Amino acid sequence: MTDIPVVELQDVTKVYHMPAGDVYALNHVNFSVKKGEFVAITGPSGSGKSTLMNMIGCLDVPTTGTIKINGVSTSEMTDDELTDHRLNTVGFIFQKFNLISLLTAYENVEYPLILKYGKGDYSERVTKLLEMVGFTRDRMWHTPYELSGGQQQRVSIARALATDPTFLLCDEPTGNLDSKMSTQIMEILDNLHKEGRTILMVTHNPETTTYADRTIVIRDGEIVND
Ligand SMILES: Nc1ncnc2c1ncn2[C@@H]1O[C@H](COP(=O)(O)OP(=O)(O)O)[C@@H](O)[C@H]1O
Ligand SMILES: [Mg+2]
Repeated sequence: MTDIPVVELQDVTKVYHMPAGDVYALNHVNFSVKKGEFVAITGPSGSGKSTLMNMIGCLDVPTTGTIKINGVSTSEMTDDELTDHRLNTVGFIFQKFNLISLLTAYENVEYPLILKYGKGDYSERVTKLLEMVGFTRDRMWHTPYELSGGQQQRVSIARALATDPTFLLCDEPTGNLDSKMSTQIMEILDNLHKEGRTILMVTHNPETTTYADRTIVIRDGEIVND
């Protein structure tokens, strides 16, 4: 079991058919991520990074090729299995945090637990996760508007961990943060990696790649190292 990669891409191509011609957002991409690895993906704007993340997160499907999550091809998953995968297997962390603005920090972290298990008392888990990312009990009742970017991203990490996913998928997690806040976020991700979490992170910032076990470089939809 342990030898099966958490994420495996086999010859993945994604084509967007545009009026001006076909755009190969990804062109025969192969790589895999093992359990416990922290992998960074970097490359210029438009190189296919978000397309890649969306497909690994099952928000989109490849045109050709196979993506396997824990050994199971996403193209063989039913709609229910894909929904289950998005909720339970992947913890999403986005550049713009994507918190629900009407909900408090606490409620944002509680939300995936309600989706997964139904209504209930999750206060112990929610409080523990928010404390882990440096929140005091008072601050947990603030809404995103009352929080700094760094605080919002810390809430989004707590939210991503709520359902104890198999891996974290981070798309430019420090892209909207100043360098001090970026360092705080990277140190949290670094600790999660040291605890054994599997992390896949897209980044523009060369400083953040130093936290990763290895860095994959992508250009015009193709991996140019590995
Ligand atoms: N929904 C879409 N429709 C058409 N073209 C797209 C779409 N999404 C991405 N692309 C194109 O695919 C390429 C890769 O985009 P993207 O994955 O967003 O790159 P990155 O995240 O590295 O900036 C770009 O040329 C982009 O214009
Ligand atoms: Mg992008």
